[in-house]
Amino acid sequence: MIILGIETSCDETSVAVVEDGRHVLSNVISSQIEVHRKYGGVVPELASRHHIKNIVYVYEQALKEAQLSLDDVDAIAVTNGPGLVGSLLVGLNFARAIAYVKKKKFFAINHIEAHIYANLIEHKELTPPFIALIVSGGHTMLVHYKAYGEFEVLGTTLDDAAGEAYDKVAKLLGLGYPGGPEIDKIYRKTGPVELKFPRPKVRHKDLNFSFSGLKTAVNVFYKNNPEVPKEVIATAFQESVVDTLVTKLKRAIKRTGIKRVVLAGGVSANSLLRERVLALDAEVFYPSLILCTDNAAMVAANAYFKKEEDDLLTVDAIPNLKM
Ligand code: KG4
Ligand code: ZN
Repeated sequence: MIILGIETSCDETSVAVVEDGRHVLSNVISSQIEVHRKYGGVVPELASRHHIKNIVYVYEQALKEAQLSLDDVDAIAVTNGPGLVGSLLVGLNFARAIAYVKKKKFFAINHIEAHIYANLIEHKELTPPFIALIVSGGHTMLVHYKAYGEFEVLGTTLDDAAGEAYDKVAKLLGLGYPGGPEIDKIYRKTGPVELKFPRPKVRHKDLNFSFSGLKTAVNVFYKNNPEVPKEVIATAFQESVVDTLVTKLKRAIKRTGIKRVVLAGGVSANSLLRERVLALDAEVFYPSLILCTDNAAMVAANAYFKKEEDDLLTVDAIPNLKM
């Protein structure tokens, strides 16, 4: 089964062609990082306008690289949430149009769940059950993924997502955008350091996260201690985030008895997070860098494992779609 996937939930316009859920024939990603860099974050209206500008080219390139035409495609899969509504609508409407005209099967995909499927593309032997830690610019979640499409959310962020905290702290310290890779690079040169920020919510028994207080703690410390190098602050911040994520992940493994772990989302590119998770007593999987961040291959892969099609006439873009 050949599925064409479309992803426009945030600031990447991506179209991919995937065969039988695990074999990527093409995965074209047009990133808008340069558009948003000067604002230090994604500007929603600019993002939607760029999706409209790019989507036809990205779609044509994806079919060309796969050496297929739309007639060879069996189904269309598209992210319908969560994300920026104006961005989601561009991909959704494009997907509906081609699926409607060509009478293709149609799947609406949850972006957070799709991030997990980046791992199934990368690791052909991987199957549920596993614990997924999904950490991106928009989400921080711990999920017990029991079978394809069957899962229990163990914990989620109560405020800022981990990646969002990275981006905000980087902006505060005058580092580049996006903040995660910049801070990670600094950590590699500087860490470890003696400065220690709080580990948010680690003493709470639940598996939820909260990173907005940490961001405030970094802000207050930075203002009050101008003599401390930014590199030290950034490094201490990364240690706090990773320590918090890994503590909760360990607790999830203990509670469920599942010793197979999957990392997903943009923050799963983080070198310290990978290092710490690899050291756990568990089987650990994570995607290559290109599949960590937003892409359409993961959307098409997710669709292959869905039991039911969706109705393209009634489907909606849902900015706060839950997993
Ligand atoms: O999954 P993603 O591309 O988009 C969302 O769905 O949000 O994740 C983007 C996030 C950004 O916040 C970025 O700063 C973060 O992933 N990120 C990282 C690293 N690379 C990207 N965070 C920490 N360390 C990294 N190496
Ligand atoms: Zn994402």
